[in-house]
Amino acid sequence: MINSQTFSNRRDLFFSKLGRNAAIIPAATLMTHHSDCEHAFRQHSDFWYLTGFDEPNAIALFLPHKPIGEKYILFVLPKEKEAEVWQGFRYGLEGAIESFGADIAHSIEEFPNLLGNYLIGAEGLAFRLGKHLHVEPLILKALSEQLDRSQRTGETAMQLFPPCPILHQLRLKKENEEIQRIKEAVTISAKAHELARSMLKPGMSEREIQAIIEKYFLDQGTRGPAYGSIVAGGDNACVLHYTSNQSELNSGDLVLIDAGCSLIDYYNGDITRTFPINGKFTEQQKAIYEIVLAAQKEAINSIVPGQTAEGIHSSALKVLVEGLVDLRLLKGKVDSIIEEGSYRHLYMHRTGHWLGLDVHDVGAYRLGEYPVKLEQGMVLTVEPGIYISDRIPVPKGQPDIDLEWKGIGIRIEDDVLISDKGYEVLSSLALKEIDEIQCS
Ligand code: GLY
Ligand code: MN
Ligand code: MN
Repeated sequence: MINSQTFSNRRDLFFSKLGRNAAIIPAATLMTHHSDCEHAFRQHSDFWYLTGFDEPNAIALFLPHKPIGEKYILFVLPKEKEAEVWQGFRYGLEGAIESFGADIAHSIEEFPNLLGNYLIGAEGLAFRLGKHLHVEPLILKALSEQLDRSQRTGETAMQLFPPCPILHQLRLKKENEEIQRIKEAVTISAKAHELARSMLKPGMSEREIQAIIEKYFLDQGTRGPAYGSIVAGGDNACVLHYTSNQSELNSGDLVLIDAGCSLIDYYNGDITRTFPINGKFTEQQKAIYEIVLAAQKEAINSIVPGQTAEGIHSSALKVLVEGLVDLRLLKGKVDSIIEEGSYRHLYMHRTGHWLGLDVHDVGAYRLGEYPVKLEQGMVLTVEPGIYISDRIPVPKGQPDIDLEWKGIGIRIEDDVLISDKGYEVLSSLALKEIDEIQCS
């Protein structure tokens, strides 16, 4: 687990970037699953990153303009015997101070009454509009009251701005402790993939494979899957966010598994492997697999500090399109196909995303005109694929696709850490070479 000093260091850094602006970072709330039953609680990653506090309905207030000992305020659910019988343990106000380092703690009920006073003297306020609708009216009211007062007090109107550029810049570059946690999440995820492959037999259901993977996640003490595990046999693999996992896994088809665990402190793995259900690729499956694997390796090998997510995507895309032209599944000059986008019926997503406390982690890919350059400590996925189905019509000028290719959906996804000189593939325990995943 990330230790409390690390959370405190992050807050110090956040304070230093805020200048004399206050910030309000709300916790997540419980989400209804159906009727009055709730999903398992999942903390908001921004709130978690700064507080390490894993309860719902809390708010963190950052007040750099206040004296030491009055800067970091937590509003939390108070201890309440009856509520704790139903919903479980709460740290309460004392716990927020003693265990989570708050300077001052209040009951969440006090937030509307106290906010206005706490903000007096702040130059501006960092708060993300549109995402925390249970808190937003209270903040707008406090700002409006401040404006009402200003006629007499002479205070200048408080500027409202989003905290994301500051906070997400911090979250984008992982600390050493975070990197260790991500490595743990990815290692558990990779081992689950290997376990699934070792147990796979034709005739099993997608759901059985999901169960093997998710049991392993839970056995390892994680929270379970970081996102809806995808176990997609045959043509189901061409549905990018397939999660129903209810079909039979048929001999002769491929299975695509996209699954990763989430640790107790929310660091995630995100790995995809695709392999033949009966252990042997058909000629067509092998041809497509070789292209995706080559594209993925090319993209990973292109990673050096200074490379960009866009550059990685372009490296993969070029190899994918070249391979598809060689197989006559695309027609024309590689550059023109890429420029026109006439490959998109076969490859319709980007080649990766940042990975961290969120699976699709925060952090800009582009700042204005400039793509963000990779730096040591960033973590991202590299996940090219090819999906051959009837779902997207073949664009004009491109060849129709013979039946023998249909229902092949392949993605290979690794999690990659940017190191000082290049990269480290964190998910290599999950095998992907053809001779490693094919039975002889
Ligand atoms: N599993 C979600 C993704 O690969 O982006
Ligand atoms: Mn991914
Ligand atoms: Mn994935």
